[in-house]
Amino acid sequence: MLFVFTPFELKSITIPNRIVMPPMCMYSATEEGQVTDWHLIHYGSRAVGKVGLIILEATAVEKRGRLSGRDLGIWEDSQIEGLRRVVEICRAHGSVVGIQLAHAGRKAWGDELVAPSAIAFPGFAVPHALSRAEIAEVVESWRQAARRTREAGFDVLQLHAAHGYLIHEFLSPLSNQRTDEYGGSLENRMRFLLEIVEAVQTEWPADKPLSVRLSAVDYLEGGLTLKDTVEISKALQAKGVDLLDISSGGILSARIELGPGYQVRFAEVVKQATGLPTIAVGLITSVELAQEIISNGRADFVALGRELLRNPHWVLQAKPDPELWPKQYERAIPRP
Ligand SMILES: Cc1cc2nc3c(=O)[nH]c(=O)nc-3n(C[C@H](O)[C@H](O)[C@H](O)COP(=O)(O)O)c2cc1C
Repeated sequence: MLFVFTPFELKSITIPNRIVMPPMCMYSATEEGQVTDWHLIHYGSRAVGKVGLIILEATAVEKRGRLSGRDLGIWEDSQIEGLRRVVEICRAHGSVVGIQLAHAGRKAWGDELVAPSAIAFPGFAVPHALSRAEIAEVVESWRQAARRTREAGFDVLQLHAAHGYLIHEFLSPLSNQRTDEYGGSLENRMRFLLEIVEAVQTEWPADKPLSVRLSAVDYLEGGLTLKDTVEISKALQAKGVDLLDISSGGILSARIELGPGYQVRFAEVVKQATGLPTIAVGLITSVELAQEIISNGRADFVALGRELLRNPHWVLQAKPDPELWPKQYERAIPRP
């Protein structure tokens, strides 16, 4: 039995298989953060390829929170329509569609860098340390972005709390040296994230899954540890978060030992500690490894990033089911 191709129910949403396209920046939006034809073709192709859950790339909740000048944006209502088209095209082919909401913080493109503390990321300018009032404004941006996410018709909303961007900057002691209620103890450092979760939940339908992507470890002395991540995950669970996507690194450069499935063990620990559904990601390319992870209950989903860029038809090729192929490709379908 190929468990990777079994459906999974998350709240009111049935995800048809366990293969996830993780968020991957395409740097192909207009300068105003609008969807272009590229996004329709790129995401639509993975839906034709029967990927279970497609999570759109980091999409900026504020204009100053973009990672690049060509990021997708969700900071104003005019951006909803283009996103809705991506959702509709992908859904028409059977994929469940999510979006990653992001703020790049001290690693943003442009000249308005903000962060918990005025500590620069190497090679970037010193960011402005957000005041309490400014923190509240940023949280409100996230709430408005959640409303737009709902209006665009997405079925999964993911918060980007990984890879050294704004939320992660609050979580990690390496970038957060505040002395108010947003800094110091882990409880304080996760306050910003939990406030965003609460704000988003006022707009995001209770019957649709809310996901958070975390960097499980910073790989650096004095940085976030897996133990911290278990605590953060438990706090997210208590708030009603449904799906954790476990990545790692990004707060500062660090040595990482790469290999097939190198981050799976992080997802496994988080899943065991919380019982929450998880996504494992990182150099998962073979159906054998995907199957091993799912069938042994190490994670509930596997995300294939670069592999799905190389091969949008990975699922069709891995699953021997001629019915899944588009009928237009009839003459090319491999028959068992
Ligand atoms: C082109 C590219 C863009 C990416 N953009 C994002 C992003 O927007 N948000 C994010 O959380 N991760 C991003 N990532 C990381 C991927 O989601 C994934 O975690 C990483 O590539 C490891 O998985 P893989 O080995 O299967 O590619 C990106 C990766 C690539 C290759």
